Amino acid sequence: MPSNEATSKNAASNEAPRKPRTIPLYRTIRALLRDPLIALEEIARRSGGDVVRLNLGLFRPYLITHPHHVQHVLRDNAANYVREGMFWKPLRRLFGSGILVDGPTWEPSRRRIQPLFAARNVNSLVAGMADAISEAVDRLDPAARSGRPLDASDEMARIVHRTVARVFFGDRISAADIDRLIPAIDSAAVSIGARLVLPFVPDGLPMPGDRAFRRAVRTIDDVVLPLVRACRSAASPANASGRANAAGPSGDIVSTLCQARDENGDLLSDRQVRDDVVSLFAAGTETTATALTWLWVALDARPDVAARMYREIDRVVGTDKVSASHLPGLQYTRMVLQELVRLYPVGWLIPRTAAARDVVGGRVIKRGGTVLISPYLTHRMPQFWDRPDVFDPDRFEPGRAEHRDRFAYFPFGGGPHQCLGSHLFTVEAQLIAATILTRYRPQLRNRAQVTPLPAASLRPRQPVELMLAPVRRTGSAARDHEARAA
Ligand code: HEM
Repeated sequence: MPSNEATSKNAASNEAPRKPRTIPLYRTIRALLRDPLIALEEIARRSGGDVVRLNLGLFRPYLITHPHHVQHVLRDNAANYVREGMFWKPLRRLFGSGILVDGPTWEPSRRRIQPLFAARNVNSLVAGMADAISEAVDRLDPAARSGRPLDASDEMARIVHRTVARVFFGDRISAADIDRLIPAIDSAAVSIGARLVLPFVPDGLPMPGDRAFRRAVRTIDDVVLPLVRACRSAASPANASGRANAAGPSGDIVSTLCQARDENGDLLSDRQVRDDVVSLFAAGTETTATALTWLWVALDARPDVAARMYREIDRVVGTDKVSASHLPGLQYTRMVLQELVRLYPVGWLIPRTAAARDVVGGRVIKRGGTVLISPYLTHRMPQFWDRPDVFDPDRFEPGRAEHRDRFAYFPFGGGPHQCLGSHLFTVEAQLIAATILTRYRPQLRNRAQVTPLPAASLRPRQPVELMLAPVRRTGSAARDHEARAA
């Protein structure tokens, strides 16, 4: 295994490699059990970017926070840092051998899937997404008009799921199946939380959430496998390229994958298609819906940012239906989304296992050691960010990022496993935010501080209740709007 040792500004490269400082068990375990995020944030800040080791008894992971070290693990020496070990074991039970799990199937899977999420292909899907979003947002209207509060997580999930279901399954999936699939994926993501936070607990020992997790996986299979089989039997064996074309004959991702062939020219097995579809659906829905839930929390805390975003959307979209032509003009909205995933990176934990001994920032990483990387922690370290706890989209003004380390900001990871859906997220989130804000002005009902809960994604711990006030329009704008609403 190549060593390619990391050097960094804070690592004295002439010194002999040393063991990292170990944070003792008594200082970590109680704090971690009480609030893992606060405990890890405190440890990260104190480390100043140095590699440290957490003593959790038998489990002693390395915590890597410095952008140069993150770059080393995720990109420069990525071959040495595999997605195996105890953190990934629970995920394998959901994703099988799909793109989210390392092993011999990952690379062909990534090669097959990558073109589907390239900007050109995503942009060709915008019209369909915009329609699905507009229909889903229509359903907010009764609550908005009657002044009834809405649960932001539920509503964002509903809107995102309808949108992604259109992109993934076209018209192949029934509304009833969407309604079974979505809560099952949600339940799997939540019920896996305890095993992700305490990954050293052996499989044989029952943990809270295990039974719900198994039930959720059964439901997911019950919905997805028959869809794959039906789609497979309808597909022609024409595509022998081994890669998914930008779009299959029906334009949706499932039908494209059903026709894709592996490196040997064989059609993928039903199980392989199921694993990729479930991986992609889970990776693309939970993340986007959760990020959009945080949007309302962030905007509520910064009315000045919210007002600037409303002005931009009013100017660029006005009373039109949001479409692809509006997206380039929504530059501030894009900056808001970039800052959103800095402060609330829903993919908050990126664990790896060191296949061979390595040296990172002058510290020895033992073979087989678990390495924890967290965009949440690095994005909030005062060593790398000015006033890190403040939500400030101006950080992402064009030109300002040039002075930043590439891996000071990595909400979508980096290196060979870099997120495939970052462009889809940006497009979809712009469409959803703009569609909602052309119609409503949101306010949080529960203004008490909303704090993050680390599960499979970084979710709000408290319910986020939204009040939506319909936008008042005058004259012809009002008439246009009423006509559309009718
Ligand atoms: C706010 C939205 C999102 C965030 C914050 C996010 C974050 C991430 C992160 C941090 C990784 C790297 C994981 C690792 O290195 O182990 C990742 C990988 C991935 N993401 Fe996303 N993601 C988002 C949305 C999406 C969407 C919309 C899709 C597509 C449907 C998607 C598909 C994927 C896939 C397939 C991978 C694995 C790539 C590989 O291992 O080769 N993500 N994502």
